Amino acid sequence: MQPQAFIFDLDGVITDTAEFHYLAWKQIGEELGIPVDRELNEQLKGVSRLESLERILSASPRPLSLSDAEKEQLATRKNNHYRELIEAIRPSDILPGITELIEAIQASKLRIALGSASKNATFVLDKLGLTEAFEYIVDPGRIAFGKPHPETFLNAADVLGVPYAACIGVEDSEAGIEAINQAGMFSVGVGAPAFLHEANYLVPDTSRLKLDEILKAYLNIT
Ligand code: BG6
Ligand code: MG
Repeated sequence: MQPQAFIFDLDGVITDTAEFHYLAWKQIGEELGIPVDRELNEQLKGVSRLESLERILSASPRPLSLSDAEKEQLATRKNNHYRELIEAIRPSDILPGITELIEAIQASKLRIALGSASKNATFVLDKLGLTEAFEYIVDPGRIAFGKPHPETFLNAADVLGVPYAACIGVEDSEAGIEAINQAGMFSVGVGAPAFLHEANYLVPDTSRLKLDEILKAYLNIT
């Protein structure tokens, strides 16, 4: 089958906001006496705000019992930290190779959607000056099951009207790669094999994302 669409993750793929999510959770962790290190953070990538909080609370060295209202408050505080951290981002914060990749995809007349779990995604895209590049942006508020469930990617393909097998998903998270694979799409991972070994095609960083190489790998597998 010929590929027809790319569905991109945002945080950690288009720009390095994954780091800001990490720093904001780390601060909440410090307030709660729960160490949030980079290993735990890998389990938070791609995962919704409240589910991330649940995973952090499960890592608590002492039993914690918080009400739903307290959890909501913590999640809101995390988001406030995060919003401060992303306030200054600008087009120069687009990760290396991404602008070129998007231009190459557009020149090849392939479609482009965004499949982020973040409720801040449209804000970040605006800051980066990239909103126009995406034909469709999944609204995580309307997704019942977050990554690793495939719904985010299935929704993007359904709205574009593209068969799942003709979609290529790009992700930096373990949960995201699982979601793409479960959707029956071709998965491109950006990051370390330790976490992303299930990806159909893996590069160590965004500067290595080249359209012709990705398409070659896609055509070899499908
Ligand atoms: C994902 C991030 O893109 O969005 C996660 O990888 C984050 O770290 C999730 O928890 C939800 O983001 P937000 O901005 O809605 O809290
Ligand atoms: Mg990500």
